[in-house]
Amino acid sequence: MVSFSGLQQWGLALAVLAGCETASAATTQQWKSRTIYQTMTDRFALTAGTTAAACNTTAGLYCGGTWRGTIDKLDYIQGMGFDAVMISPIIQNIDGRASYGEAYHGYWPNDLYSLNSRFGTHQDLLDLSAAVHARGMYLMMDTVINNMAYMTAGKDPATNIDYATLTPFNSSSYYHSYCEISNWNNYTQAQLCQTGDEIVALPDLYTEHEAVQDLLVDWAKQVIATYSIDGLRIDAAKSVNPSFLTTFHDRVGTFMTGEVFEQNASVVCDYQNHYLPSLPNFPLYYTILDAFTRGNPSALFQRIALVQDLCTDVPAMPTFIENHDVDRFAFANDDLTLAKNAITFEMLYDGIPWVYQGQEQHLNGSYAGTHNREALWETGYNTGSELYVLISKLNRLRKHAYQLDPNYIDLQTVPLYQGGSELGFWKGAFGRQVVMLLSTQGSTGSAYNVTLPMTYGAGIEVVEVLSCVNYTVNPYSQLIVPMDKGEPRVFFRTDLMPGSGLCGYSSNSTSLTHLRLSAAAAAAAAAAPSGGESVARVSWGVMAMVALVGVLLV
Ligand SMILES: *[C@@H]1O[C@H](CO)[C@@H](O)[C@H](O)[C@H]1NC(C)=O
Ligand SMILES: *[C@@H]1O[C@H](CO)[C@@H](O)[C@H](O)[C@H]1NC(C)=O
Ligand SMILES: *[C@@H]1O[C@H](CO)[C@@H](O)[C@H](O)[C@H]1NC(C)=O
Ligand SMILES: *[C@@H]1O[C@H](CO)[C@@H](O)[C@H](O)[C@H]1NC(C)=O
Ligand SMILES: *[C@@H]1O[C@H](CO)[C@@H](O)[C@H](O)[C@H]1NC(C)=O
Ligand SMILES: *[C@@H]1O[C@H](CO)[C@@H](O)[C@H](O)[C@H]1NC(C)=O
Ligand SMILES: *[C@@H]1O[C@H](CO)[C@@H](O)[C@H](O)[C@H]1NC(C)=O
Ligand SMILES: *[C@@H]1O[C@H](CO)[C@@H](O)[C@H](O)[C@H]1NC(C)=O
Repeated sequence: MVSFSGLQQWGLALAVLAGCETASAATTQQWKSRTIYQTMTDRFALTAGTTAAACNTTAGLYCGGTWRGTIDKLDYIQGMGFDAVMISPIIQNIDGRASYGEAYHGYWPNDLYSLNSRFGTHQDLLDLSAAVHARGMYLMMDTVINNMAYMTAGKDPATNIDYATLTPFNSSSYYHSYCEISNWNNYTQAQLCQTGDEIVALPDLYTEHEAVQDLLVDWAKQVIATYSIDGLRIDAAKSVNPSFLTTFHDRVGTFMTGEVFEQNASVVCDYQNHYLPSLPNFPLYYTILDAFTRGNPSALFQRIALVQDLCTDVPAMPTFIENHDVDRFAFANDDLTLAKNAITFEMLYDGIPWVYQGQEQHLNGSYAGTHNREALWETGYNTGSELYVLISKLNRLRKHAYQLDPNYIDLQTVPLYQGGSELGFWKGAFGRQVVMLLSTQGSTGSAYNVTLPMTYGAGIEVVEVLSCVNYTVNPYSQLIVPMDKGEPRVFFRTDLMPGSGLCGYSSNSTSLTHLRLSAAAAAAAAAAPSGGESVARVSWGVMAMVALVGVLLV
């Protein structure tokens, strides 16, 4: 018996919580500055003190991860600089075992009003939410609104689903009549037919119907209020009729990003422009892989321009290079340096960076056989791994740039340089942008210089934030960048580094105004008279230096 069931109890919990102020239901704009770490609860962390057998990804069974385990590993997530966590679906799933496994992933719901007791209790989930919010982080919940699940174990789903076992959609009238999807690129079919198979049927909710809509909306509002959820991922959004995506978003009133698993930018952008403010950036995902695992950088330049042209709000779209439904990056190419370049792009490009658990440990599982759902505890949660450290630096830089300029997030990335195996980009206000120079050569890449046309003025000092080496922009506004072993390079002005927590600079929250004032104060102090100089001369000198500093920091 799970601890939590029935609409009344959701309502009760809601009433209890109504008195306390909790962060929940954040807006798209609020999410844009965040970065998301995606966990799959069953595979992320065990409850402290428990042990589990080796997690066999082929078998596809529950491996033992829990919400309590997630609470204990929030340091690991926050240590990389993430300020949002997305957890896999929380609700009760069918508990049987199919030939290809169990519902450890959470995508086989059969009772919306109960929690998945494998992951813990109502109190555990409340505690996870409170622990996430106590760190100033957002909590996102992966959510299935397209279908319910029923195990037919080989029998025809058209005639063998016992709808009475499903809550609250307990009769066939809540579902589209059965049909099989033969062509996933036919959106009509993808929306009207069943996404499951003859082992685990996924009866397709009749989301055009008002009764279904009301039940889903009320359910989502109550879960969000009960557990202070700040945003939702909408699983299989491609299979939901688009007008319901809009209705659901507007009535529930929180940030949602909808999975439209689709390479075609016109299609995905059409969803953003008409139905849902945010969708994971699948069109870019494929091209990032192309650039960094198959050495095709020019395609990425073109695709960035295309997506910026077609989508109205790229900064609202999660940027990712891995998730639980695609091969690990390292499965396609196991070169660690290529992963560093792809991650640098992912973290510093427009959009909400979205990292899937284990990416930071360079895991290499394939989606086929669901080997990409490795149990993270088997990696030992190494906080010293190269990608973990890289992600923490990039998260700091992104946050710092945003703190200096709240518009940073919405200013779109500009292509700066394209070489045979290099890609340069800048993002941010002109004169104080973040610049990245990426390589597709991999760790066997040679040592050579790239002459990067900078958008900073001559004589400006910049730091390469991954190696902490200073460079000065030459009189032609160029930067001579030494490339070596395919490593990515990221530049930012040294005078804007205080407060970043990088390269020995302090890590306090700072603002551009604060930096301007302290630079001006430093200039004034430097110009202060050591002897009995004329007051008039000194103040002219101070004013000149303050003016100069002001120009540099504009
Ligand atoms: C993992 O599970 C598969 C499928 O059930 C099985 O064939 C295989 O022997 C298992 N591997 C181990 C190491 O137990
Ligand atoms: C479906 O659930 C509702 C509400 O619990 C109940 O009143 C109704 O009898 C159920 N219908 C079926 C067919 O089980
Ligand atoms: C798409 O699927 C629908 C429903 O199955 C079908 O009626 C339609 O002919 C299909 N369209 C195409 C272009 O195949
Ligand atoms: C992408 O989708 C658009 C709109 O549906 C369509 O016109 C176009 O042919 C598609 N492009 C590709 C490459 O499939
Ligand atoms: C994945 O990584 C493991 C551990 O580093 C290694 O033994 C294995 O060969 C790799 N597999 C692939 C497909 O690269
Ligand atoms: C790169 O340029 C620096 C000077 O900016 C020079 O010292 C160095 O030798 C050059 N390296 C290569 C590989 O050309
Ligand atoms: C880089 O420049 C900053 C600011 O001028 C300076 O404080 C720092 O010591 C320099 N770092 C190195 C390694 O030279
Ligand atoms: C933040 O760090 C900067 C640079 O080290 C320093 O000048 C400033 O006083 C610090 N601000 C606060 C509020 O600690």
